[in-house]
Amino acid sequence: MKESLVRHRRRIWKGGGICLLTVALLFSMFSACAARQEPDKIDYVIGVSQANMREPWRLVLTREIQDEAAKYPNVRLVFTDATDDSAKQMTDIQRLLDYGIDLMIVSPCDVKKITPVVSNVYNQSIPVIVLDRVVEGFDYSLFIGPDNKTIGKQAGEAALRMMNGKSGSVLELCGSSASQASIDRSEGFSSVISGEGDIQVEHVAVVSESRDSAEDIVKAFGTRLRGIDVIFAHNDYMALGAYNAVKQLGYDHIRIVGVDGFTGEDDGVNLVRRGMIDETITCPTGGREAVQYALEILNNVSGVPKQVILRSHNITKENADDYEASLNQVPEATKRAITVGYAQVGTESAWRLANTESIKKAARDFGVSLLYEDADQDQGRQIEAIRRFIKMDVDVIVISPVVDSGWDEVLAEARDAGIPVLLSDRRVTTKDDNMYMTFIGADFIEEGRRAMRWLGGTLETPQSSLRIMELEGTLGASPTEDRSQGFREVLKEYPGCNIVYFGCGDYTYEGGRKVIEEYLAKHEWDIDAIFSHNDDMALGAADALEEHGIQPGKDVKLISVDGARTAFQALVDGRLNCVVECSPLLGPQLMKAITDLMAGKELPLRIITDEKVFTEENAKDYIRSRKY
Ligand code: AHR
Repeated sequence: MKESLVRHRRRIWKGGGICLLTVALLFSMFSACAARQEPDKIDYVIGVSQANMREPWRLVLTREIQDEAAKYPNVRLVFTDATDDSAKQMTDIQRLLDYGIDLMIVSPCDVKKITPVVSNVYNQSIPVIVLDRVVEGFDYSLFIGPDNKTIGKQAGEAALRMMNGKSGSVLELCGSSASQASIDRSEGFSSVISGEGDIQVEHVAVVSESRDSAEDIVKAFGTRLRGIDVIFAHNDYMALGAYNAVKQLGYDHIRIVGVDGFTGEDDGVNLVRRGMIDETITCPTGGREAVQYALEILNNVSGVPKQVILRSHNITKENADDYEASLNQVPEATKRAITVGYAQVGTESAWRLANTESIKKAARDFGVSLLYEDADQDQGRQIEAIRRFIKMDVDVIVISPVVDSGWDEVLAEARDAGIPVLLSDRRVTTKDDNMYMTFIGADFIEEGRRAMRWLGGTLETPQSSLRIMELEGTLGASPTEDRSQGFREVLKEYPGCNIVYFGCGDYTYEGGRKVIEEYLAKHEWDIDAIFSHNDDMALGAADALEEHGIQPGKDVKLISVDGARTAFQALVDGRLNCVVECSPLLGPQLMKAITDLMAGKELPLRIITDEKVFTEENAKDYIRSRKY
């Protein structure tokens, strides 16, 4: 904490109650646990800018933040309530800054409007944790939130179960059409429902998202409710309103699914227990995690991720008690040694070597016994390795899958053997998302977007024309598919730019060379830019181009992904123009997740790493500090 802030803070807290009151009046805020400690012991002041203090979900968020912060006597919270008004939230944020906070937690009213303000805070070196709705770009320290599409899918699965997969009718009570959460929930829901039989879904927007409006809307359906099998309400309060309506009208056959799954007297879990609704999908607020990560950031703990996507559960009468009990469970670190089987992709790239080293080192640091197998980019070998780990009865299996499909069988074997599986670096596509405990790695789609955003930014006008070559990594691997997808998403904004050629270089130096040689064997050089899915292929391509008298970085723009030191050198030498970072240093986060899991802690759905974009202009500033 800066010296001036210490003084400033002492001035404020020494005044005790009166000053607290003044602060509360000034900012329409309240401070948690104001009386619980001596004023002079405050090390950190965390400002919390809430979108509103009205919605039940936000009240639970506030309470979670307070409860968690109460465990740290050296932390003081200062809340502001934007009353759902973005202009007020901007003023609130400025006031929190003026007040001298050490870290800010923001739950935005409107992400578009709040993005520049959050970016401003972040650029003043005040860490910002964004909750619930992610701001645009990457000017924030950490985002923690739910995955609303997954919540929608989980609700869809519940509805299908209720209709026994037969044809039927669903009434969907959505939130306001401006709510991204609601849009995502609907999308996830339809993706599950539309694939099955003949199920009709009628959507109704409940703008206020309140219990009473939902009740009125459902009542207004009158006798049409006879034909409805399931009501999917986007929150438990609307689900309760729907229950009140169907009860009064006597349509007891209707099954109800809600979202939120809080545990208060009239909250979702208890509504399920009392049989008023049939199922609720939990939508965690992230309040507790926000305070835990805030402390890690303030204490300069390394390896804090960029995004933590929280896990949701389907709560039914059968599991409601266990779920509630699990919330109060205090994780206990295991005393016995943990054995982890790690099925690595191979040794194809500098990235992979750094990744393996990071995992081995972190295992040593965490006292985890690591059984390591390298599959040499062969899925069959990787599956064999997993089967060996199952036979050895390891505690945890970690896979960095070569390709993303074809895992259902072996993952089911691991599950049947009771061995949890974690995904590191690359994802898998499985029929059932519950086949693995968490995914730790990068947002490959965003990496592709960043590459094209950078290229787009070099054009004179968005209409300028550009012939692009894409050097693809291993076909069927998630980084290949996602980087292509993200790149193409942004490419659409540039009508003059086209991918005119693509070839697979398998993430290797030789592969990159080969694609260029093959192209030049058939064409005159007519490419303006190359997007390479990794550094090794980019460097192979650069060497091959030079051998043909074409200067990479000058005659053709070269963009790659990863950020190995060799690529930094190429940036500095002007042979490469842009590198989108993909961090291989996943070891510490992975080992932390494994030890948390073994201690009985729930893992998030996804943990996404922090990454940057480097160019010829800024590479020099970073090259010395590169760790791989
Ligand atoms: O899965 C991550 C990718 O795999 C890296 O970008 C690439 O270099 C590696 O081989």
